[in-house]
Amino acid sequence: MERTAECGRLTKSDIGKAVSLMGWVYRRRDLGGLIFIDLLDRSGIVQLLFSPEQNAYTHARELNREDVIYARGTVVARSKENINPKLPTGEIEVRVEDLKLLNRSKTPPFAIDVITPAQEAQELVRLEYRYLDLRRPELQKNFALRHRVFLDIRNFLSERGFYEIETPMLTKSTPEGARDYLVPSRTFPGKFFALPQSPQLFKQLLMVAGFEKYFQIARCFRDEDLRADRQPEFTQLDLEMSFVFDERPIAELIEELISFLFERHLGVRAPRPFPKLSYAEAMERYGSDKPDLRFGLELIDLSQLLGSSEFRIFAETIKGGGAIKGLVLPDGAKYSRSQLAELEKQAQALGAKGVLWAKFTDHELESPIAKFLNPQTVAQLQSTTHAHTGDLLLMIAGERKMTNTVLGALRLELGRREGLIPEDRWEFCWVLDFPLFQWDEQEQRLVSEHHPFTSPKSSDIELLEKEPLKVRANAYDLVLNGVELGGGSIRIHQRELQQKIFDLLGLTKEEAEAKFGFFLRALEYGAPPHGGIALGLDRLIMLMAGASSIRDVIVFPKTNTAYCPLTGAPVEVSEKQLHELGIEAKRSS
Ligand code: AMO
Repeated sequence: MERTAECGRLTKSDIGKAVSLMGWVYRRRDLGGLIFIDLLDRSGIVQLLFSPEQNAYTHARELNREDVIYARGTVVARSKENINPKLPTGEIEVRVEDLKLLNRSKTPPFAIDVITPAQEAQELVRLEYRYLDLRRPELQKNFALRHRVFLDIRNFLSERGFYEIETPMLTKSTPEGARDYLVPSRTFPGKFFALPQSPQLFKQLLMVAGFEKYFQIARCFRDEDLRADRQPEFTQLDLEMSFVFDERPIAELIEELISFLFERHLGVRAPRPFPKLSYAEAMERYGSDKPDLRFGLELIDLSQLLGSSEFRIFAETIKGGGAIKGLVLPDGAKYSRSQLAELEKQAQALGAKGVLWAKFTDHELESPIAKFLNPQTVAQLQSTTHAHTGDLLLMIAGERKMTNTVLGALRLELGRREGLIPEDRWEFCWVLDFPLFQWDEQEQRLVSEHHPFTSPKSSDIELLEKEPLKVRANAYDLVLNGVELGGGSIRIHQRELQQKIFDLLGLTKEEAEAKFGFFLRALEYGAPPHGGIALGLDRLIMLMAGASSIRDVIVFPKTNTAYCPLTGAPVEVSEKQLHELGIEAKRSS
């Protein structure tokens, strides 16, 4: 028994050929004395036809969904009325002469050919039987794309002098902002390895080691809150280059790579260079450091215009150093009071005290604050916001960053709700000039915005001691359609500066030595200037495949609670294993 053809590749040009196929029963229909089976293999689907005069017909009657079979027959043209233009093989079918059952399937717990909304909701079951879910042609397509893109990335970078080098999985914690997954050591009881959150320190050591251009398709592990674009275990294209001093060579390389991949796999031309926005601009205009540039609804600063109005909240906000910002929803005056109240509730959940609204109607401004605004201010408000009759203005007053972030979230919500986000657009941008630090309210200390190995802009180094929150980083993020695809930076390559950053982050000399001594030492041995980036490959493939979750492009993903429904992991281990590791576990009941 030998397979001579693949289901999804048969076309009109094969008419008359004898073929042997192997695959799964995707669908079976018994019609007017004939049996039709859609046979599925990795390449796609072809229709098999069984007529009663053939022996195979009796066997075909016994076939169930997902049985795996061998079918030998002849490719024939379908009659005109049976042509299925939606199927690549829709002009032909295979008249089966011999059929063999290779293996039976139990009735699958969900239908593989159609995913209904109800089944969509049963994601746990689909993940438990992931090998069946993966048979679905849409998912097969995602993994074929993933494979091809990875192959192209490897070839592209290899042609440009990059070496692919693997770095350890059992390693020491690298701070990337999440909790570590820890692995207990048997040979050193009570001690732990950490799975890498990224290969950050190793790739920097590879630059010290003189490799100059490195990349890796690297698995990373982060114990963090999960959502549609986050998994505890994910894949990065990690790369690093020596002798780079700013983002330009890295941005150029990545733009070239991304444009190549989009052109080749999607036929999409991504205009280059990608636009660049500073972090401050992205926050002010879009209320996000990963702005979705596919639509407008930009944030407008109304602080100056409204700060001196008689409305007490506005005046107090400005006095307290805050901002008044707004956005205009075209034709939004149709929003009812209850819809507006609902939007306000969402904004409050994100930290705003409230949302003020104003509707531009034919003769006046309809708004709870209309009485505080004189006609001149109303006219200026209309001209500043470029609002038209029928438009809705939403305003938030408060601390500037919160105001921007909450309006940014409303912008996305309204964009989605009003269908303002074109699905077929690809809007890339770089976000630059991030702050080097953020202030962690809970811990009452500075924390790195990216990671502690990011260099400050040389022009801002003098601010490090006195105004660290004003220091900008040599860091850059790549954003596509509002998704953070990647992030990178020019690194610190001098020990003294690295030590100083650790000091500012509140690490004592002893802590820095214990955690990063090996790395600090390496910086003392001729570490070259270097920089790099990491792209989230799952997110890239998700966007390229048009999927809505990275779970659709990861073969065996985990749930939002970092649980694997297929294997049941994580699981308890035996007392013996624990004993060997020298640890005691508190069992959850
Ligand atoms: P960063 O932490 O920004 O940078 O990660 C780089 C990219 O990895 C993707 N990503 C994730 N994808 C899926 N699930 C997750 N939990 C997850 N976390 C991150 C994102 C992100 O932009 N070492 C630095 C890179 C560098 O400086 O070179 C780093 O890891 O797309």
